[in-house]
Amino acid sequence: MRSSLFEFGPEPEALPAQHKSPFKIQLLKWIGNKQRFAHEIVSYFPEKFETYMEPFVGSGAVLATLAPERAIASDLLKPLVEIWQTLAADPDKLKRWYEHRWQIFMSSDRVEAYENIKATYNSNPNGADLLFLSRSCYGGVVRFRQQDGHISTPCGVHRPVEPDSFNKRVDLWHVRTRGTTFIHSDFEPVIENAQPGDMIYCDPPYAHTQAILYGAQAFSLSRLLKATRRCKERGAYVALSIDGTKKSGDMLCDVNIPKGLFEREVMVHCGRSMLKRFQMGGETLESEVVTDRLLVRLADELHDGARVSAELWSALAAHWTPPQLLELLVTAGWYRLLAYVINGAGVELEPWAPRLPQRYPSAWSSNSPA
Ligand SMILES: C[S@@+](CC[C@H](N)C(=O)[O-])C[C@H]1O[C@@H](n2cnc3c(N)ncnc32)[C@H](O)[C@@H]1O
Repeated sequence: MRSSLFEFGPEPEALPAQHKSPFKIQLLKWIGNKQRFAHEIVSYFPEKFETYMEPFVGSGAVLATLAPERAIASDLLKPLVEIWQTLAADPDKLKRWYEHRWQIFMSSDRVEAYENIKATYNSNPNGADLLFLSRSCYGGVVRFRQQDGHISTPCGVHRPVEPDSFNKRVDLWHVRTRGTTFIHSDFEPVIENAQPGDMIYCDPPYAHTQAILYGAQAFSLSRLLKATRRCKERGAYVALSIDGTKKSGDMLCDVNIPKGLFEREVMVHCGRSMLKRFQMGGETLESEVVTDRLLVRLADELHDGARVSAELWSALAAHWTPPQLLELLVTAGWYRLLAYVINGAGVELEPWAPRLPQRYPSAWSSNSPA
């Protein structure tokens, strides 16, 4: 994935990238987070500006890398902003939120504990639960159901970071964001307050994925571009990240940036996006590639121990109904049965059929055609 970064306003001198060192310690896991390339993005900001504004703050990667003296950061997702406001006002409370849930999670059935926290969040969306869910959900990709905004991601297979380590992150992030005021708001009223010399960095949702990923929030790129023009007329700097690959999954992203709105376009090479990276590792829930990998893992677990782990079952259940899951078990078992019969009876290989790759010891392949 490449991400374009447009800048607009008085032509700034770009800071050399080395002025901002990489800061890669995440507080939250968040889809679309820019932690890995935040220092590069920041290196294109003007050297001097008044207030820094980040109206789609998400997990705050760019904000914390920049660590500005004075900033306003906002997001439309209320529980997320509650996390940021708590970090600013009472970081110890944030630590207690995390540790409390981590202890319950680690000392009981993890999937059940996770599902309880998710249910509490879904009945009353709040920062404390979202904080833990973001660190413990499957693939670190919190997804919100389109129809009701409920989190649907199953429990992750990884061990969430220990409270001691989380506490250190909180302390670090508290210092880096101490000049920031966090606001729960749509982006528009926030940037309408931008003054001459303010620096605005926008990392909006990609239009076609935001409903799933960020809880069906109201976002339109054309509204942002119009607001951007007004900010420019008032003398603010604006940088905008968009997905420069123009393609995501099966959807084409048609990004129409009016000519002359931005002075320049810079390609930031982001490598694979978080979703794509998880897809490659079989850790995401986003595409058929992942469902294929879940099936392979199901076959492996059944083969190894004739069992399915709770984590895998929970991940499978996000894609298949209970009757379909039973059918998968029967299908896997059916092939096992065929292998017993064919190999046990020593059925001859068909001379015309292509052979499987020679991956097994010859003792197996010579006697066991299937
Ligand atoms: C791509 S993410 C930002 C990621 C962020 N740069 C980071 O590093 O984590 C987009 C964010 O925009 C927020 N959002 C969606 N619609 C919004 C709106 N209309 N106004 C403000 N924030 C919005 C989402 O909740 C989400 O956190």
